[in-house]
Amino acid sequence: MMFFKHYIEFTLLYNDESYRIKTFKGEYDDLRELINDHIQPPNFGRCDGMGRCATCMVAQQSRNLSNKVEISLSCQLSISDELANTEIRILPYIS
Ligand code: FES
Repeated sequence: MMFFKHYIEFTLLYNDESYRIKTFKGEYDDLRELINDHIQPPNFGRCDGMGRCATCMVAQQSRNLSNKVEISLSCQLSISDELANTEIRILPYIS
């Protein structure tokens, strides 16, 4: 029996760069881990996903008609179909 992975594709934006991401459920524990694996922004996710530092903020914009933007801690976002076809901007940490 063959199994096919269900891929989830989205775009990460960081500084002036754009990164097309292709992943699947279970590849990473959360979005913070994926971002650190692909981009390694300095000082990003300092509390290792404990939800205490706010250095892992992202803005997620859907590509449907609403163009709604949601601000979240990436360590609290799992890799799911909700990320598919969105643009996710890594926000600068302002202390
Ligand atoms: S890694 Fe610290 S709040 Fe997300």
